Amino acid sequence: MKVVGRAIPHESAREHVTGRALYTDDLLPRYPNALHAWPVQAPHAHAHIVRLDVQPAYAVPGVVRVLTASDVPGLNDSGLKQDEPLFPAEVMYSGQAVCWVLAESEESARLGAARVAVEYEPLPAILSIREAIAQGSFQGATLHAKRGDVQQGLLESARVLEGELELGGQEHFYLETQASLAVLDETDHLLVHASTQHPSETQEIVAQVLGLPRNWVTVQCVRMGGGFGGKEVQANPFAAIAALGAYLTRRPVRVRLNRLQDITLTGKRHPFYARWKVGFSEDGELHALQMELFSDGGWSQDLSEPVMARAVCHADNAYYIPHMDVKGRVCKTHKTSQTAFRGFGGPQGMVFIEEVIDRVARSLGLPPEVVRERNFYRAEGTGHRVGEGRIAEPGTRSPEPAPHSTTHYGQAVKDVERIRLIWDELKQSTEFDRRRREVSEFNAQSPHRKRGLAITPVKFGISFNLTAFNQAGALVLVYQDGSVQVNHGGTEMGQGLFTKIQQIAAQTLGVPLESIRLMPTRTDKVPNTSATAASTGADLNGGAVRDACEKIKARLAGVAAQKLGVHPADVVFEDGQVWSIWKPEERLGFAEVVKAAYAQRVQLFADGFYRTPGLHWDKTRMWGKPFHYFAFGAAVSEVEVDGFTGQYVLRRVDILHDVGDSLSPLVDLGQVEGGFIQGVGWLTLEDLRWDARGQVATRSASTYKLPSFSELPEVFHVRLLPRATEPGVVYGSKAVGEPPLMLAISVREALRDAVAAFGRGGVVELASPATPEAVYWAIEKVRERALVSGD
Ligand code: MTE
Ligand code: MOS
Repeated sequence: MKVVGRAIPHESAREHVTGRALYTDDLLPRYPNALHAWPVQAPHAHAHIVRLDVQPAYAVPGVVRVLTASDVPGLNDSGLKQDEPLFPAEVMYSGQAVCWVLAESEESARLGAARVAVEYEPLPAILSIREAIAQGSFQGATLHAKRGDVQQGLLESARVLEGELELGGQEHFYLETQASLAVLDETDHLLVHASTQHPSETQEIVAQVLGLPRNWVTVQCVRMGGGFGGKEVQANPFAAIAALGAYLTRRPVRVRLNRLQDITLTGKRHPFYARWKVGFSEDGELHALQMELFSDGGWSQDLSEPVMARAVCHADNAYYIPHMDVKGRVCKTHKTSQTAFRGFGGPQGMVFIEEVIDRVARSLGLPPEVVRERNFYRAEGTGHRVGEGRIAEPGTRSPEPAPHSTTHYGQAVKDVERIRLIWDELKQSTEFDRRRREVSEFNAQSPHRKRGLAITPVKFGISFNLTAFNQAGALVLVYQDGSVQVNHGGTEMGQGLFTKIQQIAAQTLGVPLESIRLMPTRTDKVPNTSATAASTGADLNGGAVRDACEKIKARLAGVAAQKLGVHPADVVFEDGQVWSIWKPEERLGFAEVVKAAYAQRVQLFADGFYRTPGLHWDKTRMWGKPFHYFAFGAAVSEVEVDGFTGQYVLRRVDILHDVGDSLSPLVDLGQVEGGFIQGVGWLTLEDLRWDARGQVATRSASTYKLPSFSELPEVFHVRLLPRATEPGVVYGSKAVGEPPLMLAISVREALRDAVAAFGRGGVVELASPATPEAVYWAIEKVRERALVSGD
């Protein structure tokens, strides 16, 4: 009878596939009077605006108003750190919007924008991480996490390796581009429909730009056609433009970017560069790791610092390294402002440590999976390692023990044995060792095509690094017929949050799923909400909805107990029926109990609240317990590579992923598959490029290769770890949104394994993304080395 955990389709699946699901811009026909907005985009990466003449735009029929800095009644800034002028005096990246034209039609707005005369004085631009480092162009704080004494650790190590790697960015390419629709009502208050992962912050920014108290602004998000982090903060400027336009013209204003505008105006996943030094034993046990991370933050801070914090906190992945020192710095460049993207810096940190591990393994001639498992976090007293000692927490003098289950930022990995459990189970079920032999045999027979096999783990921390964000609210309304409306602060972007919330509410109230209606997310139902991000949507909002439902159920239990003549604690609510454990055959209908409660003047609606317990984080020392728990998983990938071209196919992928007790197994499977494929895109196909003038060169689906059906693995097995109850999370579940993306690292490592087979051992340098071209050059390198080594 359980509703939570039942494998049901996404609550909007029918609407998605029939096209009936409405997205923000689909609401436009409700506002026939709406004006359309078009940006004037700068052609320079860095320039002063010497002159801006908007008058010529008004010559175009249909142009109603051109919005510029002087129109802003509040603050001309759409950033939280107030480093993002909405109408800039200095152009900071190619494509930046200088002003916006409002017109009766999209076409008029476009033609009007083309007439706006702007005179620029170009300035020197910084277009890469390396240029930024050379010129000392950084933004935000230096982040630094450390444990032990890395210099001493390196000295003590039998072997030391150094290396570096650059990682490319990634375009979100959500199907629904950024969209907002703002309407001023007869009392001058604003309703802003926005495709935003963070309606409360969109409300805040709109209020900031208009100089209004926040209670004048309501933001609603019906659903998104994908966000992937790209609408966590970057929906805000477009909502602000729509709101400003509506405020000034008193007409509804619609902003909806086309794909080209979206790609050139909005930020992407951060490109990263890392250099490291690692000390290890002859057996491949890591002893000391020093790593410096640099990200390309683009022109403003946005979320770059928290993204870097997560990268720093995931540079260990699943491995215990006694002496560790990781520094992170955000570069300021003249590019789009890079932002949240599924994994939020975690993927970058984890690719780097997996790169390190592979190099350590190949420099020792050991299979990488052996080095991986040799370094796992583990419970105390399970195996001895060389060089263990008592390691001091930074800033303390007295050494304290560094248990093998504690991260370099001080958090104990409490269910540490799960890493090993998943690993062993997956190795066994995929017959890893047998396939390793088969791959070797195949490679020995095949000079021009080589296969590669790899298994990689994922450990991903769940919670916002900023403790305050780990709270959520809900408002649940029960009507006299027993039907229910649920409001909460989370947003739906396709990830299935609303499906899960519906299941949680139905389960907690003991009513059928059909009795629960999820309302669109609105800031006038639940205030001060957090972004739906960091994979915490169901943990936080589910917790709050459950709290509200429990309150209502407790009140109803009192009413039912009277009717049934039992104690309220003995009343059961299930599937729309109410009974007591003493007389299960005597049943009341849920609606009947609700009606009786109404007659007795019992409150039939409740708020709910949730805050994640036990978190503490010292941001400056980067030490504490930033995460409520970790999500785990592992993936085995097998590839086949053509030595003439570098072309490859993904022959088979097996995934075992830990979602705790799944709230909604079909939704979770979809998240694991989708996240994995999005990660494969980032690491193998999506080659995001900027040209020498700082313009995004890959600005459409024709030049930016996205994963599609043809890139799916030929064999693809995804399983959720059974019996994995997570205590202290709603219905024993675990977050699933982001962690599976990092399972894709197994594909990168499998490609490297195949490349290695073209040579005669030693490290393999593989660029990222590992496009066929990059794979080809990596093969050339190992072949060359095999020739030079002479055998
Ligand atoms: N799945 C779909 N279909 N669309 C999305 O935009 N965003 C991802 C992930 N899965 C996304 C998705 C990101 S970046 C996050 S943080 C989580 O969903 C957010 O939702 P959750 O917290 O409810 O898991
Ligand atoms: Mo997800 S990158 O936290 O929106």
